[in-house]
Amino acid sequence: MVTCSAPGKMILFGEHAVVFGKPALALAINLRITSTVKGANQYSVNGHPMKKRHHMYISAALDEAWGGPPINIDTSSEIPSGSGLGSSAAVTVSCVGAMMAHRGGLEPEKIALKSFLVENKVQGRASPTDTSTSTHGQGIIVSPEKVDNFLWRIENGQRCWNIHHCEVPRLHFVVGYTRIHASTGPLVAGVKRLVDSSPEAVRAIDRIGEIVLEGVDAMAHSDKKRLGELMDENHTLLNSIQVGHPELDRLVEACRPFSYGAKLTGAGGGGSMIALTDNPSAVAKAIKETGSEPIIVDVGVEGVRLEDEGTTRK
Ligand code: MEV
Repeated sequence: MVTCSAPGKMILFGEHAVVFGKPALALAINLRITSTVKGANQYSVNGHPMKKRHHMYISAALDEAWGGPPINIDTSSEIPSGSGLGSSAAVTVSCVGAMMAHRGGLEPEKIALKSFLVENKVQGRASPTDTSTSTHGQGIIVSPEKVDNFLWRIENGQRCWNIHHCEVPRLHFVVGYTRIHASTGPLVAGVKRLVDSSPEAVRAIDRIGEIVLEGVDAMAHSDKKRLGELMDENHTLLNSIQVGHPELDRLVEACRPFSYGAKLTGAGGGGSMIALTDNPSAVAKAIKETGSEPIIVDVGVEGVRLEDEGTTRK
């Protein structure tokens, strides 16, 4: 029996554009998914027979990383599904990690690659941002070129992404979770259609790529004011490529008086937004007053790790 846990993530800059090969900056957050793998008479999940259509990520993870005798996989999650906080990446990474550890050790680069292949297969189109953040933890910078603090490279057909470690300064973020479930696959497909038909959408994707690079610089200097401005601009651009939601706009507006900046995070279409602030309790109160769920998160936490049997440590 092997137990692994992996963190969720927030994308600070670059969601959607990263699928087109632009850079992204993402941080691991202190909400985790824990998966335990143990021998069984049939393939099962949380004690129930595994069904491909109900357990899409877990069954794709089995195809990618197992191929052995039947196992049962028990999962427990602190991350709401469809929240934009990386629940599918964390379930995939923790399962792939537990399966690989069952047969040897934890090899982050292999876990990141296999987990990316799982997400790409289930979603139809993906970048390795979420799965590499969940694997490495802390912060990552995804970029088309290899730069300092290189971790690994992930290729898929003609697309390739270089993954780098990012030092995360002490920053306070509050998540506003709309409780509106949004599936990543259709949102990513919608952006692809738009980019294929609209030069404006292409310009938005290009500008998001520039914002990420400016954001990396602001992060290195702990420049919260600049980070906030860039978050606001990134949010507007995400709306322009049609992955926003009125509820996300309402939350962003409600947080602005107490924040350096705010934006949707992840695939959009519902899910969550994030605000950068020095006053997390005021932001949390503002989010609550709109009827959404505030989550004050720690960022830059540990990536995939082995757990003692049956324990979940934060
Ligand atoms: C989803 O968390 C992030 C997207 O950029 C998709 C991806 O990178 O695979 C929307």
